[in-house]
Amino acid sequence: MEVTLVQGDITEQRVDAIVNAANSSLMGGGGVDGAIHRHGGPEILQECRKLRAGHYGKGLPTGMAVATTAGRLPARWVIHTVGPVHSRSDDRSELLASCHVESLRVADELGAATVAFPAISTGIYGWPVDDAARIALDAVRGARTSVREVRFVLFDAVAYAAFETLL
Ligand code: AR6
Repeated sequence: MEVTLVQGDITEQRVDAIVNAANSSLMGGGGVDGAIHRHGGPEILQECRKLRAGHYGKGLPTGMAVATTAGRLPARWVIHTVGPVHSRSDDRSELLASCHVESLRVADELGAATVAFPAISTGIYGWPVDDAARIALDAVRGARTSVREVRFVLFDAVAYAAFETLL
């Protein structure tokens, strides 16, 4: 598997699937979640509502992932995952790693060969980006998957530098 980095907006990526740093409600929010729903249009939210009405009545648990189509986005699918809120007293690294592994598992089920990830949990959920980059890169490199390219799409120069240093 090839791991690549770009600085930019994940909603513009021409890949099979983009990963959304969602929240457990799957009903949208700010940050990358807001951008995906805004650019992708109402179809994504409609599918999220169906997921909530079905298997995910209590919401999507932290560290898990589920797919919808991608509405008007260039990607074919959106894989929604819920990152952990960063905590100084409680080590939630396993949950952050799980977001990546589970997203790749869902990508395999879809037959997605190229998958773009944002820096999950490093915005509103407060995870220091250097530490999140290490966990994310270790998780994707260690995952057993048929995905050929994992592209980390970093919104700003600081996040890009954190990933680049480790890669
Ligand atoms: N493309 C790529 N990266 C982006 C984009 C974009 N268009 N927009 C923001 N980022 P965040 P979280 C970066 O806050 O910390 C939402 O309200 C951003 O700079 O989007 O996992 C959800 O509904 C940061 O580096 O996600 C949840 O409630 C990274 O994406 C909560 O936020 C993640 O920041 C999830 O918080």
